[in-house]
Amino acid sequence: MVTLTIDGRSVTVPRGTLVVEAARQLGIEIPIFCYYERMVPVGACRMCLVEIEKMPRLQTACTTPVADGMVVNTGTPAVVQARKAILEFLLINHPLDCPICDKGGECPLQDNTFKYGPAVSNYADVKRHFVKPIRLSKYIVLDRERCIMCTRCVRFCREIAGDESLTFVNRGTWSEVGVLQGRVFDSPFSGNTIDLCVVGALTSALYRFRSRPWDLCPTPSVCTRCSVGCNVNYDMRTEGVLRKQAIQRVSPRTNEDVNEPWLCDRGRFEYNFVNSPERLTTPLVRRNGKLVPATLAEALTELGQRWRELHETYGSMASGGLAAPNRSNEELYLFQKLFRVVLGTNNVDHRLDGAAVTLPLASWTQASIADLERATCVVLIDADPLVEQPVLDLRLKKAARRGVRLIVIGQREIDLVDYNALWLNVGRGRIPDLLRQLAAEISIGSNGTNNNSEVGMRNAELGARRGASLQWAQRLGVRSEFAAEAVHLLGVTEPVVVLYRLDIEGKQDGDELRESMQELIAARGESPTGVMGLVPDANSWGALELGVLPDLLPGRRGLQDFAIRAELMQLWRESVPAEPGRSFRQMLCGPQPPVRAVYVLHRDPVGERPYDPELRRAIHDLDLLVVQDLFFTPTAELAHVVLPGVSFAELEGTLTSVEHRVQRLRRAMESPAEITEDWRQICAVARELGGSFRYESPEEVLAEIGQAVEGYAGASYVALGELGLTWRELEELRRSCAPVSEGRAAGDGESVT
Ligand code: SF4
Ligand code: SF4
Ligand code: FES
Repeated sequence: MVTLTIDGRSVTVPRGTLVVEAARQLGIEIPIFCYYERMVPVGACRMCLVEIEKMPRLQTACTTPVADGMVVNTGTPAVVQARKAILEFLLINHPLDCPICDKGGECPLQDNTFKYGPAVSNYADVKRHFVKPIRLSKYIVLDRERCIMCTRCVRFCREIAGDESLTFVNRGTWSEVGVLQGRVFDSPFSGNTIDLCVVGALTSALYRFRSRPWDLCPTPSVCTRCSVGCNVNYDMRTEGVLRKQAIQRVSPRTNEDVNEPWLCDRGRFEYNFVNSPERLTTPLVRRNGKLVPATLAEALTELGQRWRELHETYGSMASGGLAAPNRSNEELYLFQKLFRVVLGTNNVDHRLDGAAVTLPLASWTQASIADLERATCVVLIDADPLVEQPVLDLRLKKAARRGVRLIVIGQREIDLVDYNALWLNVGRGRIPDLLRQLAAEISIGSNGTNNNSEVGMRNAELGARRGASLQWAQRLGVRSEFAAEAVHLLGVTEPVVVLYRLDIEGKQDGDELRESMQELIAARGESPTGVMGLVPDANSWGALELGVLPDLLPGRRGLQDFAIRAELMQLWRESVPAEPGRSFRQMLCGPQPPVRAVYVLHRDPVGERPYDPELRRAIHDLDLLVVQDLFFTPTAELAHVVLPGVSFAELEGTLTSVEHRVQRLRRAMESPAEITEDWRQICAVARELGGSFRYESPEEVLAEIGQAVEGYAGASYVALGELGLTWRELEELRRSCAPVSEGRAAGDGESVT
């Protein structure tokens, strides 16, 4: 540690800390532009000049590391004068168009000028002018004359996103930020440069001129566009003659354990459908072949009458449900409960095509996103996070830059292969074979213990075999030296994280894959191995855990075990059917006779499978189709009853992310017209069919979920707070508290598959 003095106050910080950071610890602000703590400092803008005793000139606080006994002064006349001079210089070509600039009100240049700048400028010449603005991509607009060349945006693309999609073009005074000729700014993370830009040079095409920051009302929530669960603020504003609330922009909310301060462009920019005037605002009921507007009560009566008749005539297996895996835990839980308890069937699914699911298989340790940086090695199996879980890709790149070795298994040459990864290039069908071979190699010399001398011998043996030619590698067509290096990395005792694409929509080669993964993990003995199943949607894990599946009950527990059903029966005070349900496709397309009544919650099977006439015909032929959605989708066109649903910005609830983090969705805006929240509508449908679904709030539903599925026990809205809690953290919470629910032991470790 190093002790220094800043403005007469002493502070002790780790060696290597920069002066600007040491000052922050004391609450002393040193103005900055180019410095950003997550990127390499470059000392480009000179805004952070300070006086350091025994040093000849003013020094940049953002590039100077602390030293023992150093004496720093941040407010001497020389520093004050230097700041004024730097700001005057930076403003020479700046247009000072703050009144119309989107950054106005949250602009570091504006703030620093106000606090430290000169009152007047000595510059009397003509400022630099550019044609404005330049469209860098469909999302990003550049006003070049505002740029102060701090280089943050270019460094972000190079150091964090790793795509070099922004650069500097031209030389000297004509230097400007841009993209190479003929290119667009096509980074999937381009929106982060808007936040990083210290002026209004890079702005959002969607948000441009829509609002001033002080008119925005932020609501902390979670992105629902993939399973990472990035933390966001929905920045709302009331607008238009009708004073309608609308999302003006989505901005990141820092959560160091999830997204840090980053978002991908999908999460940041794909929100406008919420504000769409095309949204359904009233229930529709089919009368004389046409869908006509109705009240909610009329719609419920209509569907209740028809559904009860069908149920009485054809029995419980004549009903089925399909729910979207990006809806809240509360909605999904109620949805499956409606089918199991009220209609007496396990015909409920969240997949269009999935075959039987045989989870769970193993008791694995759930890895967290933060674990990726703590591991020595991360294995990616058949996954492409850049496309499927973009911000996870950023975390993996960061981990790789810090020395975590990546083993990429699969056929796709994903971006991460360029990060010194060992790419074992095999098709998905041969991955189990590869994993078994790796397991067999690792097992050599291992008896599954972590006894120091045995581990030492094993590591030495694996080290000796590092360059060895592996016949199985040649047979599988993977590079032998990569395979040998992978054996060595996986064989040592350091923490390893395995990320694999959990193909829940697929045709089930999953069991074999999971079994072979299990062998690999077992071969590592007691060496720490975390696993993360990469699922596609914001609440795919919620749908799996809460039993929105025809063959698994909440908690991913089997249907056949009476004790498990008895536990749920006690909680629900109703019987639970033992007969396995059918997957959504089987419900409609056989082999058994098709169901008669289907309830679709925020999915559009007809629109999602446009080339599947058999499925469309089966949906068309249903006696009762109830669709609950935001829009009048191709599936809704075939419905008998349509119920308008609410968007992610209009609901209270929780989601379960890829790392089993339970996080809160908060209502940021009122729904259009008189739409009732989806959880209330599910309850109303259940009551119409004879159930007694009387919940007061989604939080009450969450409390029941905690009794049905151990992983969620203790997950109240208060406990979840702003940043959410992983199952691991919830388990720790339970261990540290009194028993959270009667009759249930606090967690014995979670299992993921
Ligand atoms: S565009 Fe913004 S972030 Fe990029 S160099 Fe210019 S001022 Fe800095
Ligand atoms: S990575 Fe996923 S959760 Fe995060 S911002 Fe992008 S789409 Fe949203
Ligand atoms: S902030 Fe230190 S040189 Fe720019």
